[in-house]
Amino acid sequence: EYLHVSQQEMEERVKQIKNDLGEALFIPGHHYQKDEVIQFADAVGDSLQLAQVAAQNKSASYIVFCGVHFMAETADMLTTDEQIVLLPDRRAGCSLADMADIYQTERAWEKLMQQFGESILPLTYVNSTAAIKAFVGQHGGATVTSSNAHQMVNWAFTQKERILFLPDQHLGRNTASDLGIVETEMAVWDPIQEELLFSGNVKDVKVILWKGHCSVHENFTLTNVEYIKKEHPNMHIIVHPECKKEVVDAADYNGSTKYIIEMIKQAKAGSAWAIGTEMNLVQRIIHNHPDKHIISLNPYMCPCLTMNRIDLPHLLWSLESIKKGKPVNQITVDKQTACQARLALNRMLERG
Ligand code: 13P
Ligand code: SF4
Repeated sequence: EYLHVSQQEMEERVKQIKNDLGEALFIPGHHYQKDEVIQFADAVGDSLQLAQVAAQNKSASYIVFCGVHFMAETADMLTTDEQIVLLPDRRAGCSLADMADIYQTERAWEKLMQQFGESILPLTYVNSTAAIKAFVGQHGGATVTSSNAHQMVNWAFTQKERILFLPDQHLGRNTASDLGIVETEMAVWDPIQEELLFSGNVKDVKVILWKGHCSVHENFTLTNVEYIKKEHPNMHIIVHPECKKEVVDAADYNGSTKYIIEMIKQAKAGSAWAIGTEMNLVQRIIHNHPDKHIISLNPYMCPCLTMNRIDLPHLLWSLESIKKGKPVNQITVDKQTACQARLALNRMLERG
């Protein structure tokens, strides 16, 4: 439909609709979104910030979420029944969130209960489906993001002896390790083989990691880190904690999207950085800091293909559907799931 419409015209039409709708329209955009989309975002942030702004926004009738499906689900659960959340392209999913489905999780829980009794509290990264969040909420647990994972894991241990961390094993392992939990106190639940993998003694297990990963951040390797250290010894290496532990350990700094942005902002002019996170964000950071030498840790860059499905034509299509009174791609979570998932989300939001 927009194949023969120029970029300039699409931008004009988006601007016009934003003007016409005013406060009735709110566009949150994740940092990994393309520039052509992010230029129209009313709030730009990481997963935690976008969950917070969605929860605070009471005036917009339409929230056009420029991010991925689980983020739009979260926005729907944190806004009122009257507010409508749209995802410009329904195919914008998250391969990490898809690595834990609710049936696998229920089976895993049953088996882990047999082995460990009532000693486990589930925590889920927000990069998970609403059904997983509801499961976690129902069992007393909470959601976490990469910005508050340490705080939330510490809280979890005030509740129970052990945690089950879904669905990103790397964020779980990196966080647990920072908190002094050693490898032999961690086990990995394999949802395909339905077995618990561990190297120490099973009774010492404190953290059970779900065997999931982000296909974007797994592309940053130890070889990439070693190459930078050899070729650019003065370069600082900063990575997202969705990267493997060996990469995080070898890097100089690691932290959430927000942390990475802040670190580069505060860095001295002339300093050199290799960044291990999603391509659109790395390119934006490079553009915003011409006074610093910045490259991607992986020279091939690493785009999140699903984030990139939200482009200008899809944004315009979504906005025009509102104007026509027939909004497309509304994301709704059923009431019961939303109610239980909110328990998990609110336990996180209450703690900042
Ligand atoms: P944050 O926004 O929490 O840093 O997470 C990164 C990510 O992969 C989002 O999908
Ligand atoms: Fe999911 Fe990774 Fe893409 Fe984030 S970057 S949306 S975790 S696949």
